[in-house]
Amino acid sequence: MRLSSPIWPCLLALDPSIAASLVASWDCKVAVPSASWDLTSLSNEKIVTHTRSSPPSEYVEEVRWNTCNELKEREGYDNADQCPAGTLACLTEINKKNKDGVDRITAVIPLAVASDLRPEVSSMQPPSKGLSLLLHGSSFPSSDPSSIRHSLNLTLLCNSSEESPKFVGFDRLRGVVDIEWSVPAACPSSKDGSHDDDGEKPPEKEDPPVPAAGGGLGWFFLM
Ligand SMILES: *[C@@H]1O[C@H](CO)[C@@H](O)[C@H](O)[C@H]1NC(C)=O
Ligand SMILES: *[C@@H]1O[C@H](CO)[C@@H](O)[C@H](O)[C@H]1NC(C)=O
Repeated sequence: MRLSSPIWPCLLALDPSIAASLVASWDCKVAVPSASWDLTSLSNEKIVTHTRSSPPSEYVEEVRWNTCNELKEREGYDNADQCPAGTLACLTEINKKNKDGVDRITAVIPLAVASDLRPEVSSMQPPSKGLSLLLHGSSFPSSDPSSIRHSLNLTLLCNSSEESPKFVGFDRLRGVVDIEWSVPAACPSSKDGSHDDDGEKPPEKEDPPVPAAGGGLGWFFLM
């Protein structure tokens, strides 16, 4: 991991209000026909890691994300070693070889980007309570026309207390990273406004995935 820090004047010059407007179309509130969720309390940065053995070294897959907002620039990292501005979720793969103590960042993949977020939400099947939130990212590597678009699949489980998020898996063929996270914000409010926290509702048919409102789709059609 190189920790030299060239200063990137253009990034520093970015007015925070301009950066914030990039995700103006994503208000972090989602709904299916039977329920809605306000996820705005999840707008802070989280990191989960997973270590994969690859003798004689090991790979650490690190997912850093903010469900609602863009990630801040990572101080002390080269631009090439971090996701570009406008990224909400970034997967960094680090190769560690303990003997010589050298860590190398071997891949930096935007899993969710503001310009093409297209949030998709689906409700969990009762008796489980919560939702799946799929956020879309960029192709990686972006220079290769055959590369796949990556995405972050957040499974948010209704729980009265917030737990640490868990790295569930990274499906390289589909480019999907799965993360599971127990949070109170995943407890649904039913459409009449009452908060569904007693689990007494009769089982319902699973709601189909619904694209959340946002400009991402419009942008998609513009292309
Ligand atoms: C996201 O995770 C949920 C729960 O594990 C799963 O049912 C769903 O198929 C996943 N979606 C994608 C696109 O992989
Ligand atoms: C909430 O999280 C705690 C701690 O992980 C766990 O023991 C409990 O079963 C969870 N509750 C629900 C309803 O999943």
